[in-house]
Amino acid sequence: MDLNSEIKRRRTFGIISHPDAGKTTLTEKLLLFGGAIQEAGAVKSNKIKKTATSDFMEIEKQRGISVATSVMAFEYAGRKINILDTPGHQDFAEDTYRTLTAVDSAIVVIDVAKGVETQTEKLVSVSRMRSIPLIVFINKMDREGRDAFDLLDEVEQKLGLKVVPLSWPIGIGREFKGVYNLWEKNLKFYTEALKQKIGDSIEVENLEDPRLESWIGASATALLREEVELVQEVYPAFDPEAYRRGEQCPVFFGSALNNFGVGELLDCFVEIAPPPQPKQTEERMVRPEEPQFSGFIFKIHANMDPNHRDRLAFVKVVSGVFERNTNYRHIRLNKMLKFSSPTAFMASKKSVVDEAFPGDIVGLHDTGNFRIGDGLSAGETLHFTGIPSFSPEHFRFINNADPLKSKQLAKGIDQLMDEGVAQLFTLEQNGRKIIGTVGALQYEVIQYRLEHEYGAKCSYEPYPAYKACWIRIEDPVQFEEFRKLKSRNIARDKYDRPVFLADSAYSLQTAEQKFPGLQFLLKSED
Ligand code: G4P
Repeated sequence: MDLNSEIKRRRTFGIISHPDAGKTTLTEKLLLFGGAIQEAGAVKSNKIKKTATSDFMEIEKQRGISVATSVMAFEYAGRKINILDTPGHQDFAEDTYRTLTAVDSAIVVIDVAKGVETQTEKLVSVSRMRSIPLIVFINKMDREGRDAFDLLDEVEQKLGLKVVPLSWPIGIGREFKGVYNLWEKNLKFYTEALKQKIGDSIEVENLEDPRLESWIGASATALLREEVELVQEVYPAFDPEAYRRGEQCPVFFGSALNNFGVGELLDCFVEIAPPPQPKQTEERMVRPEEPQFSGFIFKIHANMDPNHRDRLAFVKVVSGVFERNTNYRHIRLNKMLKFSSPTAFMASKKSVVDEAFPGDIVGLHDTGNFRIGDGLSAGETLHFTGIPSFSPEHFRFINNADPLKSKQLAKGIDQLMDEGVAQLFTLEQNGRKIIGTVGALQYEVIQYRLEHEYGAKCSYEPYPAYKACWIRIEDPVQFEEFRKLKSRNIARDKYDRPVFLADSAYSLQTAEQKFPGLQFLLKSED
């Protein structure tokens, strides 16, 4: 198959949700539909367990397992589908944000009883900044939950999405009987006997079919007809182009656990979701169909074995064909590198690949050359943009607890930051180092890994900051003034960019008012 056909048939996406909404279950059901796994439970057992919130050793163990679920690829209806895992654990939010830089679209899972939750809001707002096309899947329809119209209002308001239902639920909870598919204009409902079976459903051609009443009862039929009419009046017609521009968001209802609504979702997804998209670089826009290979690193996974400090760097192929044993240019280091055993991921299996196409993810063994955002190319200088850092939520000074091991500590911190475990800020005033994380538990993980992988010891001290704001300097004179005034709160990030570590929402607001020539951004610029 030629490059263009390979590109057209690829769909690379992520599933985002608040923990517990059903992301793992949906992923697994998609893999089952795609025939990529044979039984339920395969992905689920790889999930980072909920107990991990209070047990970082558990996270350490699971870190190894999660390599396997980083990318799950399968073939379906002639398409090559790459699902990128977006870890749902609250401590992994930064990692999840970064994965969104490598997807071409996303599916948002919402629990029908809980509605829009905080992590969903955060992840959707990041997706919207990048205009990532989104499909919403309202899950757990077999449980008592919210009224569908109310829930869609909430999705529109809280997530700022223009929704278009493409399926509609028939009842909810114990009364849930199936879905009417507005996309294919047919109706599928299920009985207890069909629960858990993949691909089985009873189809009805249209809503006027007289058999409907005998199957779901007169009142459910009347309600369904009425609601579908209302849906068609209230919501705009679905426009696939508007969806691909990130302006319209189709919605499906179902129950992942009971395989309900998942097939409809997948069939529609493969039709409408965008193939690999062009990617911006500082130099120019790179298009997937260009013959020369290029790609960027969006994730780095450390080896679990402390004696082998090699890591797996995940590259997303942006253009051309990636080939094994071929020299590629590491752009930041201006160094040619060759990969003898690049890894591809199919479902939960890994294997060595000879070639990969745009949209594919390849795992590269790395001995410390890569950091998040690095680009690789056949030769051209390309700096990929759109891979920012986001403000951490927690901040602590990091101190060296063993003066004889300061080199090891510096190296350890450097590598862990390259991996994206946390962010490092250096105070301008005195050079002290501050670690910023998304979840407080990361501090224990860092301490443990520094000791076990690098032989270094560290201790922490509180640094009371509210947010890290990258400073865009429009007026250098104002920056100098601000710097004098707030010298204790100005730091540099890993790339030497100036950052204001605001101690409260109030001080951030005051700074914004007093210094209009400076912009305070909650994410770094590319
Ligand atoms: P997550 O990855 O988003 O964190 O969610 P996950 O799929 O693990 O699902 C969270 C819980 O919700 C699981 O139950 C799962 O079985 C359940 N669930 C997922 N989809 C549905 C659905 O459509 N209907 C119902 N009723 N439940 C659903 P758990 O008890 O926490 O885990 P487990 O013991 O079942 O594995």
